[in-house]
Parts: sequence; C-alpha cells; structure tokens
Amino acid sequence: MAVFEIVATAFWAMLPAYVPNNAAVLFGGGAPIDGGRTWGGRRVLGDGKTWRGTIAGWGTGMLVALALNQLADPAGDVLGVSLPIFPDSALVALPLGAMLGDIGASFLKRRSGRERGAPFPGLDQLDFVVGALVLAFLANPGWFSDTFTLPVITVVIVLTPVLHVATNGIAYALGLKDEPW
Ligand code: CTP
Ligand code: MG
Repeated sequence: MAVFEIVATAFWAMLPAYVPNNAAVLFGGGAPIDGGRTWGGRRVLGDGKTWRGTIAGWGTGMLVALALNQLADPAGDVLGVSLPIFPDSALVALPLGAMLGDIGASFLKRRSGRERGAPFPGLDQLDFVVGALVLAFLANPGWFSDTFTLPVITVVIVLTPVLHVATNGIAYALGLKDEPW
C-alpha cells in the first residue's frame, strides 16, 4: 500500500470512532451513567459521562459509518485508493468501543484522584482509539485484520492525538467544551 492509501484508510476507518466524542460533547448532559455513585470517596465516572452523550455518540458514529459506506466507492475513485466498507459488526463496534474507551478512561481518572475535566495526557488522546480497536477486533476479527494492518494502526496512533488536540481546541474556542483537552 502506498503511504497516501495507508493514511486515507486509517482516517476513513477511524471516522466512526472519532465522531462519537464530538457528538457526545454536543448532545451530552442529563443523568450521569454512574447515577452520582462514589467509590472510595470519589465518583465512579463523574458528571462528564452521561447516558445521553453516550447514546448520541454511539448513534452518530453508526450514522457516519453508514454514510461512509455509501461514499466509499466514489470517494475511492476520486482519491485513487480502495477505501474500507464497514460491515454491520464494525459499524456498531467502532463507535461503541470509542465511547466505552472514553468511559473507561474517566473511571481511571477518578481512581487516580483527577476531578472531572482534569487532563490525563496520553490517556485522553488514545482511550477511545484503544476501545474502538479492541471492540472492532472482538466483533469481527477478519475485517479488523484486513483493515487495520500494522502500517494503518501505526498511522492511527500518530494521527489521532493530532486530530484530537485540534478538534478539542476548536470545540473549546467555540465554547462547546470547558477545557481544551
Ligand atoms: N459527554 C457525555 N457523555 C459521554 C462523554 C462525554 O455526556 N459518554 C459530554 C459531557 O458533557 C462532557 C463532555 O462531553 O463534559 C466532554 O467530554 P469529556 O472530555 O470526555 O468529559 P469531561 O467532562 O472532561 O470529564 P472526564 O474528566 O471524565 O473526561
Ligand atoms: Mg475531558
């Protein structure tokens, strides 16, 4: 695979996992998943992880994957590359895994004494990537290994923090997010 095709594949395949976080910021709010419960004197997850944000993020990610499936052939022709199609299993797993990874990170942040919104460099940028990749692998190992080759995964790990920092900075500048991370 040429470098351009690797980057295009990485970005395309991860879009259903990138969008849920941003959708959760836009649509989040309401009842927290942990119902206000604490563990060891600290919130289990905190007010930043809500049912509405999670469901909205997951749903938006699935819609993105459905739309990408319609666009894969024409966009691939224009770019001169072959773009991946999301089977139902991956279409469900990528955004759900992204949300679960983010929720898992909040759990770890609370256990390590970080309040809601406190930064955890590295974890903040890659939690949803790990969640999405692990769940996609479990849901469809064949599709996963065809799509996420080692070069593609490498690009995902390098590209994601850059995109994440940039989009969160924009969301902060627009007043949609309380912190720029
Ligand atoms: N959000 C949500 N549900 C989720 C994830 C995010 O409602 N599952 C919304 C919340 O309004 C949250 C905002 O998106 O405040 C930003 O998400 P994030 O940065 O992940 O949460 P934080 O508030 O920073 O909390 P944490 O320290 O737990 O990451
Ligand atoms: Mg945060």
